[in-house]
Amino acid sequence: MVRYRPYVVLSAAISLDGKIATRSGDSQLSSKKDSRRVHKLRSGVDAILVGRKTVSVDNPLLTVRHLKGKNPTRIILDSKGTIRSDSKILKTCKKVSTIIVVSEKITKSNLARLQKFPIDVIQCGKNKINLKQLFRILYRKKIKKILVEGGGTTNWSLIECKLVDEIIVTVTPFIIGGKKAISLIEGKGFDTIPKSLSLKLKKIIKMNSEIVLNYTV
Ligand SMILES: NC(=O)c1ccc[n+]([C@@H]2O[C@H](COP(=O)([O-])OP(=O)(O)OC[C@H]3O[C@@H](n4cnc5c(N)ncnc54)[C@H](OP(=O)(O)O)[C@@H]3O)[C@@H](O)[C@H]2O)c1
Repeated sequence: MVRYRPYVVLSAAISLDGKIATRSGDSQLSSKKDSRRVHKLRSGVDAILVGRKTVSVDNPLLTVRHLKGKNPTRIILDSKGTIRSDSKILKTCKKVSTIIVVSEKITKSNLARLQKFPIDVIQCGKNKINLKQLFRILYRKKIKKILVEGGGTTNWSLIECKLVDEIIVTVTPFIIGGKKAISLIEGKGFDTIPKSLSLKLKKIIKMNSEIVLNYTV
């Protein structure tokens, strides 16, 4: 098959009831051992991609820390370019390659603010970010493998656009509950099972009370 876009692995830690955070946004579900596994996974990809809300709620670094390894490029989907200047991502962008993806909805002042940082700003799409177009641009930038680390809205957009190749979820021993708690996949969802995304189970790892499930699309 001729590839024109990066290979995409979607990764997340979920509660037993399929949530990736509590209603207040607490998402610290993984054990230390599982975090090390995720960091190893990060060290093997060209980029990590997350949505704007994950950056505003978690303020993550998105680097490789629990082991030695290269830091992938960090890609943030942020149509209006609202990422805070004091976020860990922008504070570390001199050291770690960073791409902020915006759409034509961005204000001139936000664009000017972002352009002051040593980052790559990619403008792609009218209102929403056009993910198919973005992935073609990233592929041309030699980004061949991407780890998508959420949140649920970003995960749905990628699945809806058929851009996911593999899914790795850690099922953690917690029940979160609550309609307002974010699920692994948010958005509109599929309306029937035949139309939904069907997967093949490739591997299972049991780690104490956690299970890592690896599926291919
Ligand atoms: N347990 C885990 O493994 C894990 C991992 C990651 C996150 N989380 C949790 O997930 C929660 C955040 O998830 P979320 O679903 O609310 O938000 P999200 O997916 O992190 O971010 C969604 C936002 O990204 C922006 N975006 C830009 N282009 C997009 C596109 N084409 N498709 C989708 N989004 C696009 C949109 O904001 P604009 O319209 O402003 O651009 C959208 O509202 C947090 O509580 C975080 O802690 C958990």
